[in-house]
Amino acid sequence: MDLHELYVGCRTYRRFTQEKVPESVIREALENARIASCGKNAQTLRYIAVTSPEGVRDLQGLVKWAAALPPEIGTPKEGEQPTAFILVIKTPESGAFSDVDVGIAVNTIVTSCWSHGVGSCLMGAINIPKIKERFHVAEEDTLRLAIALGYPSHSSTIVDLPADGSIHYYVDEKRDYYVPKRAFDDVVTFA
Ligand SMILES: Cc1cc2nc3c(=O)[nH]c(=O)nc-3n(C[C@H](O)[C@H](O)[C@H](O)COP(=O)(O)O)c2cc1C
Repeated sequence: MDLHELYVGCRTYRRFTQEKVPESVIREALENARIASCGKNAQTLRYIAVTSPEGVRDLQGLVKWAAALPPEIGTPKEGEQPTAFILVIKTPESGAFSDVDVGIAVNTIVTSCWSHGVGSCLMGAINIPKIKERFHVAEEDTLRLAIALGYPSHSSTIVDLPADGSIHYYVDEKRDYYVPKRAFDDVVTFA
């Protein structure tokens, strides 16, 4: 797959087949994140790969899906849920650029997974205290994001912004997603 094609396809997915994500795919993604660039090469991020059926089940109720959609449309039902998660954690040594480090790391993880056909949803709307408790994250550490993983069972297509300029993603009658992106010339200038 060429790199642009990878980025076009690497969208947010919110419903999945129940085929398990191979551990090798998760390991490769985390290995790529491990060696990714980071501020001062400080390497302050830590990851928990949640792959056990109990762990994955417990997380399902602690994440919030698709703020732009009614829950009956945006929240995966039984049999549609992700089959693995990765928790991204900042340790207390994390410096001023640590959220940049998080961005680089999570993009590395999701693109690595997508190169194997594994889709993802980055999740910031998560129950931080409950997840920290359940997965024994140290109090002084910051749980920053969860990444839901699985083989997608819907499509997601980039579209132009509609005439009213709305950036809200939407679904069709099959609950396939459409994600409006601003035009190139609206976000890029050359100087
Ligand atoms: C930092 C961040 C946090 C996000 N948090 C959530 C979330 O809690 N729940 C959710 O369903 N989607 C979440 N998303 C997914 C966004 O809604 C999605 O990226 C956006 O609608 C654009 O869709 P695309 O990823 O297909 O381009 C998050 C994305 C990012 C980058």
